[in-house]
Amino acid sequence: MLSEKLNWRYATKKMEAGRVVPDDKVERILEAVRLAPTSSGLQPFDVIVVTNRDLREKLKAAAYGQSQITDGSHVLVFAAWDNYTAERLDRLAEGVAAARGGMSPGIKSNFDGLKARLLPRSADANFEHAARQAYIAFGIGLTAAAFEGVDATPMEGFDPAAVDEILGLRARGLRSVTLMPLGYRAAEGDWLAGLPKARRPRTEMITELA
Ligand SMILES: Cc1cc2nc3c(=O)[nH]c(=O)nc-3n(C[C@H](O)[C@H](O)[C@H](O)COP(=O)(O)O)c2cc1C
Repeated sequence: MLSEKLNWRYATKKMEAGRVVPDDKVERILEAVRLAPTSSGLQPFDVIVVTNRDLREKLKAAAYGQSQITDGSHVLVFAAWDNYTAERLDRLAEGVAAARGGMSPGIKSNFDGLKARLLPRSADANFEHAARQAYIAFGIGLTAAAFEGVDATPMEGFDPAAVDEILGLRARGLRSVTLMPLGYRAAEGDWLAGLPKARRPRTEMITELA
């Protein structure tokens, strides 16, 4: 059951240094990320998979020394588009058309509508919208990692400007949103390991209107 996996996972604070997550598991986690639903199918984010040690040392410094970044084997950097542009939306429309038998009037009018709605907005408003979509994929990636028995730490405790600089994201029209180190929990040294989950009660969080 998925709930067992979700109880098993936790925001791992200490990972076993040197233990590498196998490629097939990383690929399945990335595929789950790629399959995430997004508003209007925009998929307005990239994921950068960092294994390079020097880069991970720099990312750790930008993340206030959080050791999972270098003790784990991979860091997934979720980076949202800095804005919506006609070029980006045209490319998406072409992708939809290629997947669905050609550019139909329906696809064209859908993307014309998106352009009319999104392009007049500020870059910041569009980035915030894109970042919200990245969070959906981030959550699915965390779930996929748990499903694969891989430990992951959701992270927004970092300096985004520094991460953007380290990875050259702004030049690619991207801004970092979240980090997800992948690895395996260490046998010792993790204050959070083994602590019961602390969640608001169902009766408080969930309202049922029958
Ligand atoms: C978006 C987001 C950002 C987070 N940032 C950090 C972080 O920078 N460092 C960290 O150790 N934990 C971070 N956490 C972990 C949360 O504190 C943790 O998920 C929450 O307390 C629930 O605990 P659990 O994930 O162990 O069940 C983050 C979680 C989320 C969802």
